Amino acid sequence: MNPARITLLGGTGFIGRALSRRLLAAGSLVRVVSRHAETAADLPIGVSARSADVRDPRAVSAALVDSDAAVYLPGRVQGRRRSDFEEIHARAARTSAACARRAGVARFIYLSALGASPDASAWADQTKAEGELGVAHAFPGAVVVRPSLVFGAHDHFRSDMLGLMRRLPVLPVIGPGTRVQPLHIDDMVEALRLLLRGQKPRDNILQAAGPRVWRHIDLLAALRDRAEIRCRLLALPEWLALMLAVASRILPKSPLSPDQVRLMRSDKIADPENARLGDLGIVPRDPLA
Ligand SMILES: NC(=O)c1ccc[n+]([C@@H]2O[C@H](COP(=O)([O-])OP(=O)(O)OC[C@H]3O[C@@H](n4cnc5c(N)ncnc54)[C@H](OP(=O)(O)O)[C@@H]3O)[C@@H](O)[C@H]2O)c1
Repeated sequence: MNPARITLLGGTGFIGRALSRRLLAAGSLVRVVSRHAETAADLPIGVSARSADVRDPRAVSAALVDSDAAVYLPGRVQGRRRSDFEEIHARAARTSAACARRAGVARFIYLSALGASPDASAWADQTKAEGELGVAHAFPGAVVVRPSLVFGAHDHFRSDMLGLMRRLPVLPVIGPGTRVQPLHIDDMVEALRLLLRGQKPRDNILQAAGPRVWRHIDLLAALRDRAEIRCRLLALPEWLALMLAVASRILPKSPLSPDQVRLMRSDKIADPENARLGDLGIVPRDPLA
């Protein structure tokens, strides 16, 4: 049986909206929570929206009242200091898990990322690993989900890259040889639905990855060719990418941070030792189709 009342912290983003639609269709009551949820445009019909900042434990506790299950979705890829990532990926995740436990929520899921590790180069990956530990401590039995890149309508990576390739004659590629394993949003939300229904992956960690491992630059070339765009891809050495990221700090809204460059040092692919979508009975579909 699906839990009746599900709260999605960070539920107005890309994965949260798709998950809301899936859960509503399965008959659940869905509450989405984010800083601007009450004024967010085009939320799925039927969700209830509540504005709250996950950094505020009182607001999170109030948002979790009467919930059977909760999913923690807030995350960031941009930040100037380690603490920018730490507060969302680790501190607020841990306190949200503790609030959920106190509120009697039966299931808690934390959205991490493939690549999360205390030894990772990027703050984003380091603090996701901290978040995983903190959540497991605050909410025994919580499930961690580590996605690779997720593709679907209104996604981030694919839409952004296609937009850039349409505008630029040459696209510099950071981490051209980094391996990624993109998955389809429908598989992502089906996995989350099954976990919310009570399926447990081995060690309470699920890796969400698609059917094929790609080198970053080959994936971009495939996306470009399928969209029939003319744009050259130029592999950028990391030192040059870092220099550009540092230089772009003078811009009011920097398009690239050093941490994003470091994020591309490590592969974002599933480890055969840990649970994957197949363990939930999901056969991952081609996310590029
Ligand atoms: N999409 C992917 O390809 C991908 C891949 C790997 C891992 N992940 C992880 O999966 C999670 C969800 O990804 P996504 O693509 O759905 O992200 P997203 O589109 O950026 O959505 C993030 C959500 O969190 C909310 N949020 C951010 N800061 C908040 C705060 N302080 N308090 C309350 N809400 C806050 C945002 O709304 P407001 O800004 O309005 O508050 C938004 O609803 C993230 O943790 C991400 O790291 C995603």
